[in-house]
Amino acid sequence: MTLILGLETSCDETAAAVVDDTLHVHSNVVATQFDLHERYAGVVPEIASRAHLEKITPVVTEALERASVDVRDLDAVAVGHRPGLVGSLIVGVAAAKALAWSLNLPLIGVDHVEAHLSAASLRGTGYRVQGSGEQDKSETRVNPEHFSRHGAVPPNPEPRTPYPALGLVVSGGHTSLYRVHGPRQLEFLGRTIDDALGEAFDKAAVILGLGYPGGPRIDERSTQGDPAAVDLPRPLLDKDSLDFSFSGLKTALLYAVRGQPVGRGKDARFERDHTHLTEPQIADFAASFQAAAVDVVIEKLNRALYPEAHGLNPWTTKPRSIILGGGVSANRELRRRVQTFAGDHGLACRLPDPAFCIDNAAMIAGHAHALLAEGDTADLTLPVIATTRV
Ligand code: KG4
Ligand code: ZN
Repeated sequence: MTLILGLETSCDETAAAVVDDTLHVHSNVVATQFDLHERYAGVVPEIASRAHLEKITPVVTEALERASVDVRDLDAVAVGHRPGLVGSLIVGVAAAKALAWSLNLPLIGVDHVEAHLSAASLRGTGYRVQGSGEQDKSETRVNPEHFSRHGAVPPNPEPRTPYPALGLVVSGGHTSLYRVHGPRQLEFLGRTIDDALGEAFDKAAVILGLGYPGGPRIDERSTQGDPAAVDLPRPLLDKDSLDFSFSGLKTALLYAVRGQPVGRGKDARFERDHTHLTEPQIADFAASFQAAAVDVVIEKLNRALYPEAHGLNPWTTKPRSIILGGGVSANRELRRRVQTFAGDHGLACRLPDPAFCIDNAAMIAGHAHALLAEGDTADLTLPVIATTRV
């Protein structure tokens, strides 16, 4: 059995995990920084990198303890080294280099976006360390029944992915579509030209006064709302485009909640805001926003699946599955709709366990096994890079 320790510090989660070569997750520890960034309704890079520095050693120690693994049992150390906030990435990369060097182990640099598309292949469920620093170290296991209890689609019981696949990464930083020919053979199809889907959820939550991080809160409120209550646009760009655009949807929600602005830019004044809404109205807005966003995603999946109908290059081999990854793939409505879409089109559907949707190190360690098998290891010059390879 080959064991890889993975580290992940690309944004606002400090994470470490131990995963073996059957992609069984032995431990998956995530320290969130939600409480540090909440008041800014977004991630503050300088605060994030300082918090990573404080958390990286206890998180790594805990991941090894939880896995009952001694550092001498490890076969490699992997780290997400791109894309992300450079000041955050550098903490994980420096820690991984120090570990690999001192233990004389191979070092593996993993692309975070590529790793999101491997998350659905992981086996086992994770647990999270919530809060940050001195404030809240209480731990909650992610309950695998959570999703089925709420009527959403649970993770797939058979994680092996039939290739080629249509891959979609939807996170706070990325919204990208790929033809996936193998775990490391990604053919780029399209990406967002403005907001990432998770970013749009987060901004929609601010407009509705639901706080940060917004995605899970919109998801939750939507269960009490009517998705047809508010008429919002479904921006699809040109008819042959596989790119995404969510800023128009976000602005439409803003105007629907606050009314038309008087004045422009920072001088714009609105006639009302979310405090004028009742709780049922907020739920209706949340559900309507979510439905519009998910409709856009499904239409783009449809275009990518039948490219010739949209004047795009056909698949050389018919796709056999759809893979989802990234924080927004935890969204219950998105999971339900993608599952139905895949079923309707005769495709297998690969959805990650909720613990592996949001940023985590299990996906880094799991994906690193594919790199190790290819001999794709790094040396101590491994750089941090703000952009993705794919
Ligand atoms: O993958 P991730 O943890 O970080 C990035 O790589 O960006 O994704 C975080 C994003 C946030 O925007 C968050 O609001 C969104 O994922 N998210 C959700 C849900 N859970 C997390 N969006 C919609 N519904 C959810 N249940
Ligand atoms: Zn991510």
